[in-house]
Amino acid sequence: MAPVPTAESKRMSLKFEIQPATNPTSDKERAAKLVDPGFGRVFTDHMAVVRYTHAKGWHDARIEARAHFPLDPAAAILHYAQEIFEGLKAYKREDGGANLFRPDANARRFRDSAERMAMPPLPESAFIEAVEQLVRIDRAWIPGGEGSLYLRPFMIASEVFLGVKPSAEYIFAVIASPVGSYFKGGPAPVSIWVSENYTRAAIGGTGAVKCGGNYAASLRAQAEAIDHGCDQVVFLDAVQRRYVEELGGMNVFFVFDDGSLSTPPLGTILPGITRDSIIALAKDSGTPVREEPYTIDQWRTDAASGRLKEAFACGTAAVISPIGKVCSAGGEFLIGGGAAGPVAMTLRKKLVDIQYGRAADPHDWIKRLL
Ligand SMILES: Cc1ncc(COP(=O)(O)O)c(C=O)c1O
Repeated sequence: MAPVPTAESKRMSLKFEIQPATNPTSDKERAAKLVDPGFGRVFTDHMAVVRYTHAKGWHDARIEARAHFPLDPAAAILHYAQEIFEGLKAYKREDGGANLFRPDANARRFRDSAERMAMPPLPESAFIEAVEQLVRIDRAWIPGGEGSLYLRPFMIASEVFLGVKPSAEYIFAVIASPVGSYFKGGPAPVSIWVSENYTRAAIGGTGAVKCGGNYAASLRAQAEAIDHGCDQVVFLDAVQRRYVEELGGMNVFFVFDDGSLSTPPLGTILPGITRDSIIALAKDSGTPVREEPYTIDQWRTDAASGRLKEAFACGTAAVISPIGKVCSAGGEFLIGGGAAGPVAMTLRKKLVDIQYGRAADPHDWIKRLL
């Protein structure tokens, strides 16, 4: 089994050797790539890499030119999907500096994911250092305006062995990808498809951690959503097939006519950092927030009666996406007439203003880098 993290391993810091790319992208080429980067197809010049073996522990920490990994065809990741990842962003401040948003929370969740997947926990300080060093060396790639630099830390099992057991070797890396504003012209309400054929997570499974396998298993359900003309899939619980869990890559909130909010409880869903931040911001302004189970039937009934005023999805990529329409095999219904609601939009602005350094940061979420 992978070693259990000790207080010492959580504190331990690795020294990163910095080897700048010898042939980085020219200013002109980079400017062209930043005009409309879309999502996840444009990458910066560098990456952070740290290696692990049982004998040496975490070692060989580097910031180096982005390059392919040489992987043996028998590397464990290629067969048994022992892989975890994270997603966070660096935001350009109006004064030209850069902010990270709650990188400590991503580092903690990454450690939790590692423990669930029998992988060696990376010290949280090393996770944060890798992210910070990468943003520093590739800071010219952080887009202005409402764009951001998406950071993708991940860990793969690299031992060359076909037995089913935790790998004895791992590679941790961070890559960076400039992304444009998720919604051009403001957040458009999304339509979602209720998956009745597929579930995402069961108690005791891996739903609460960020491992690649969860996403591979969700693709068929997402394809079904697209086939039905919807933007995203929403999963129900795996036992009773009644309780709303989350979307393929976002958590979900409901806004009621008494001004309160509710969101599905933690357990089988991913503990989203945006979800946690929204709960805190709503509570700051005196809004009651319940973390409680909510069924798809109740959702339909509350939308029809007007008790439900809004629903929205949230996550690092899109921040907050209003949900305008819910479709299922049994029919469809609108929420708030299908338009974006004021509670979702107000919370979104509050969060985005903190992320870009335009508003006070009462919870100390921002890590200013530059
Ligand atoms: C399944 C799932 N749920 C929720 C989220 C939202 O999490 P976060 O707010 O930390 O980005 C994500 C995105 O990472 C996700 O993949």
